[in-house]
Amino acid sequence: MVSFADPERLSVIFDSPQREEWQKSRQIIARLGLTPTMRIADVGAGTGYFSRQFAALLPKGRVYAIDSEPNMVAHMRRRFADEQIGNIEVRLSEPDHPALPAELDWVFLANVYRFISQRRAFLAQIYAGMPSGARLMLVDLATVHAAPSPDQVMDELKAVGFELRELDMHTCPTHYLLQARKP
Ligand SMILES: C[S@@+](CC[C@H](N)C(=O)[O-])C[C@H]1O[C@@H](n2cnc3c(N)ncnc32)[C@H](O)[C@@H]1O
Repeated sequence: MVSFADPERLSVIFDSPQREEWQKSRQIIARLGLTPTMRIADVGAGTGYFSRQFAALLPKGRVYAIDSEPNMVAHMRRRFADEQIGNIEVRLSEPDHPALPAELDWVFLANVYRFISQRRAFLAQIYAGMPSGARLMLVDLATVHAAPSPDQVMDELKAVGFELRELDMHTCPTHYLLQARKP
């Protein structure tokens, strides 16, 4: 199992100034169509790379930066306090329980799903925690040896009840973007 217990070391990769070049996070975020009052849960938020970008777009909304690794949670709390970002709530979750808030427009999972061991149970919990009409974006590696494949992930999303909206293989050269909705 991969460990995410050393945020200082991982931050060199996750928050690298070069990351935008390969991750295309600005284009990924643009696909969400965020408006200032929306609420988004960044599940497996890590060091907060995406969460802080969401926060800048949601001055009247809220970001829930959720992670099951206590050291990542502590790191994000320090980071967002230092950066004086007031619209992010950091939450520690259980590996099989994502600790979603009741009101949500989006659930966002980037570079997380492939590390989940009990994927079906995890997705079912996400689905159960989302209000009807809320949407999910899942971003993960699209390289040939990446597992699970986008097809497999689509099957897993459908199996728990999600309605598939879009599979985007073009926005980011190394990652796919998969959008789904809770009916
Ligand atoms: C590769 S990092 C990605 C971080 C961030 N999303 C990004 O793209 O920069 C994966 C993160 O997912 C978290 N994670 C792994 N399994 C999880 C689970 N079951 N629930 C919540 N977070 C999880 C890890 O602790 C880690 O911080």
